[in-house]
Amino acid sequence: MAAPSERRALITGGAGGVGAAVARGLARTGYHVVITDLDPDACAALAAEIAQDGGSAEGAALNVTDRAAVDALFSEQDAKGSIDTLVTSAAIVKPAPILDFDPDDWARILDVNLTGTFHCCQAAGRRMVQAGFGRIITISSVNGQIANSYRGAYSCTKGGVDMLTRLLAAELGASGVTANAVAPTPVDTPMILQVHGAQDRKRWTDQIPAARYAQPEEVAAAVAFLASEEAAYVNGHILNLDGGFMASGILLDR
Ligand SMILES: NC(=O)c1ccc[n+]([C@@H]2O[C@H](COP(=O)([O-])OP(=O)(O)OC[C@H]3O[C@@H](n4cnc5c(N)ncnc54)[C@H](O)[C@@H]3O)[C@@H](O)[C@H]2O)c1
Repeated sequence: MAAPSERRALITGGAGGVGAAVARGLARTGYHVVITDLDPDACAALAAEIAQDGGSAEGAALNVTDRAAVDALFSEQDAKGSIDTLVTSAAIVKPAPILDFDPDDWARILDVNLTGTFHCCQAAGRRMVQAGFGRIITISSVNGQIANSYRGAYSCTKGGVDMLTRLLAAELGASGVTANAVAPTPVDTPMILQVHGAQDRKRWTDQIPAARYAQPEEVAAAVAFLASEEAAYVNGHILNLDGGFMASGILLDR
C-alpha cells in the first residue's frame, strides 16, 4: 500500500539533541511530528518553534518505560490520523566498569533503552501492519556492535535494539513496514557532553577517519532517507553513521 498523503511521525526522546534534530528535519520535509519526551514543556517549546517555522508539530509527555502511557498515547493519536513513522531516540547512559556496574543502573538502562523501545515499536508496529505501510527507525549506536570500554548496560541495550530492529524487519516486511537502525559514533549533543571529557573527544576524533563527531542534523538526514517512500526496499539495516569508524582499523598519525 502507498504511504498516506499526510505523513505523521512520532519521535521518542524528541526533546533531546538527536530527537529534536529529527523532529525539525521531518517537519521541514512535510511530516506532522509528535514530539514526545519526559518533560512536556520541552516538547511543547520545540513544537512551537517548529510551528513558527511553518511546520506542523505537537508535543506530548511520554515516559517510554510506562507501557500504559505508551498505549494511551498511540490510542489518542489514532483519533487524529495514524502514526506511519516511529523514531525511537529515548535513551540513557551511565559509564562504569562492567565489574562495578550497579545492578539497579543496569535494570534502569535496560528498561529505558531496550524495553522502552520495544513498547513503542510494538504499539506502532501493530498499527502500521494494519495500515499496510510504516517506517520504524531506531536510534542505535556503534556501541551495539563493538565493546567500547565502560559502556556496560548501554552497549548491551544497543545490541538488543539492533536485534529488535532486525526482528521487526523480518516479521513486518511483508506488510509494507520497514525497520532500520541508525548507529552513530559520538554525536554533538547533551548526552555526549555528559560522558566525554576533552581527552575522550581527542581519542575518538583521532580514530574516526572524518576526524570529528557527527552532528545531530546528519543523524536526522539518515532518518529522513529511511523514512522516505523511496527507501521501501531498505529493510533490516543497521546504518552506521560513523565517519568511516567501523570500516577502519588503527589510524596512524596523519
Ligand atoms: N550523543 C551521542 O553521542 C550518541 C551516539 C550514538 C547514539 N546515540 C543515541 O542517540 C539517541 C539520542 O541521544 P542524544 O544524544 O540526543 O541524547 P539526549 O540525552 O540529548 O536525548 C535523549 C532524550 O531521551 C529522553 N529520555 C530519557 N529517558 C526517557 C524515558 N524514560 N522516556 C522518554 N524519554 C526519555 C531524555 O529526556 C532526552 O531528551 C539515543 O538513543 C542515543 O543512545 C547518541
